[in-house]
Amino acid sequence: MPITKIIQVSTEHPDADKIQYAVGVLHAGGLVAFPTETVYGLGADALNAEAVQKVFEAKGRPSDNPLIVHIASLENVQQFAASVSEKGLQLARRFWPGPLTLVFQRKINVPNGVTAGLETVALRVPDHPVTLELLRQFKGGIVGPSANVSGKPSPTSAEHVYNDLNGKIDLIIDAGSTTIGVESTVLDVTVDPPVILRIGGLSKEDIEKEIGEVRWTNAIELLRRSPGTRHRHYAPHARVILFAPADEEKFRQFIQQNKAQQKKVGSITYSKVLAGIEQSSFHVILESSIEHVARNLFKALRELDRQEVDVILVESVEEKGLGAAVMDRLRKAALHNG
Ligand code: TXA
Ligand code: MG
Repeated sequence: MPITKIIQVSTEHPDADKIQYAVGVLHAGGLVAFPTETVYGLGADALNAEAVQKVFEAKGRPSDNPLIVHIASLENVQQFAASVSEKGLQLARRFWPGPLTLVFQRKINVPNGVTAGLETVALRVPDHPVTLELLRQFKGGIVGPSANVSGKPSPTSAEHVYNDLNGKIDLIIDAGSTTIGVESTVLDVTVDPPVILRIGGLSKEDIEKEIGEVRWTNAIELLRRSPGTRHRHYAPHARVILFAPADEEKFRQFIQQNKAQQKKVGSITYSKVLAGIEQSSFHVILESSIEHVARNLFKALRELDRQEVDVILVESVEEKGLGAAVMDRLRKAALHNG
């Protein structure tokens, strides 16, 4: 069991010595949690099959769920991808660094553990000064699933990582809370039109403005292309129940029903009208901007879990822009528990 060390690194002025220390841990085959603009990732040397295996063990991640490889820039793509489509290249130029993961044909040198045996590899350049510096100094690819125990909400702070993985990883680079708060959008650009495998920090609308039509996958196709998506995800211990935006009547009704059954009730709402209803035991009220909701959603779910509530009532958001990613995570949380 490693002792998990935490080092604080300033986002504005990343300390080169601290980064160099993290690089050493990665070269030695260790596990390093790192910040990104979306969520914290659990890093290991992408070309070290043994280190990659440790990532799966630390997270309790099913081995059929492939990992994203983080790279410093577009120039590193050819280390991992055998071919790059025109649209893939165009998107990488436009949105990297940023919350977009592109799925390309893999190169043969990528360990099977990374790709879960698929013929493709997922690549992303994260938009975070600390991790970009880490990637530049490391000079290779760093795998980075979200740094949570598999199935739990992704970590948006070093504290979340520590709560999930203390004693299982070597190092946490703490650079404060992440800004976007939901994971990257995963887009398969080996096909035309490209296919969204996971909606996230970059909206479908923004992608389509750049390259025209992209497709959503149906469930069966998604399983074939991205096997990991069938696993339990984003779920707190408590049962998650969604209700329509500003539906005061439903909200009251759910509170009463659950309280009548002696359930401890938590809630997450945004509407002003709902903020006044103080009947739930633990009420997280977020500002209604979708950026704020996305940034604080996983934190709110984790906080309510800590209060050991039995159910979490969550107000839905409008399904456009970042709202599509928020609703995707909420639906999965609601589907997989209770
Ligand atoms: O924002 C993010 O993407 C974060 C940060 C740390 O970069 N990472 C992240 O990784 O969310 P993870 O492992 O939690 O989610 C990766 C997703 C999974 O749904 C996985 O199935 C999919 O990407 N994926 C990875 N490689 C793939 C591939 N070759 N083909 C299809 N899907 C792939
Ligand atoms: Mg994850």
